[in-house]
Amino acid sequence: MARPTELLKQDHRVIERMLKVLATAADRLEKGQEVDISVFDRGLDFVRQFADYTHHGKEEDILFNAVEAAGIPKHGGPVGVMLEEHDEGRKGVQKWAQGLEKYKAGDKTAAAQIVRGARDYVYVLRNHIPKEDDILYPMADEVVPLVVHTQMLQQFETIEQERMGSKREYYVTMVDNLEKELGLK
Ligand SMILES: [Fe+2]
Ligand SMILES: [Fe+2]
Repeated sequence: MARPTELLKQDHRVIERMLKVLATAADRLEKGQEVDISVFDRGLDFVRQFADYTHHGKEEDILFNAVEAAGIPKHGGPVGVMLEEHDEGRKGVQKWAQGLEKYKAGDKTAAAQIVRGARDYVYVLRNHIPKEDDILYPMADEVVPLVVHTQMLQQFETIEQERMGSKREYYVTMVDNLEKELGLK
C-alpha cells in the first residue's frame, strides 16, 4: 500500500518543476528578455488549483489533522510552521496576481511586481517542500496509525476529485509544455 505521504511527495515533484519554470520566467521578465506573459497566467492557475487548493488542501484538511490527532499539537510545532509557510506562499501569489492584472491592463511597470511575487512564492516553496519531505512526512508516517493511512488515501482521492476533477493530467501536461516553451527540456 502506498503511503499517503508518498502521494504528497509526488505532488511536490510536479510543483518543483513549476517552481523552476517560474524562476526562469521571472529572470527573463526582469532582464527584459522575451517571455510570453501567459506563462505567468498559466503558472498562476497551476499554483492556485494544483499546489494550493488541492495539495495544500490535502495537507491542511487531512494530513495535519491526522498528525494532530496522533498527539502532536498543531500550533507551536512543525505543523504550525508549515501552516505559516502556506500563508507566506499565498502572499507571494497575491502580489503576483495583482501585478499580472495591472500588466495586462497596460501598465508594463507592473512587471516588477509580477517578478517579485512569483520569486517570493518560489523562495517560500523551495524552503518548505524539503521540510515536509524530510521532517514532517517521516514524522507523520511514524505517529499516524496505519488504519488512518488507509482513510487518508481515500480522503485524498475525494479531495482531488472535488477540487481538481480529472485535471491532474491537464496540469502535468501544462508543466511539460511550459518546460518545453522555456527550453528547460
Ligand atoms: Fe505544505
Ligand atoms: Fe506539501
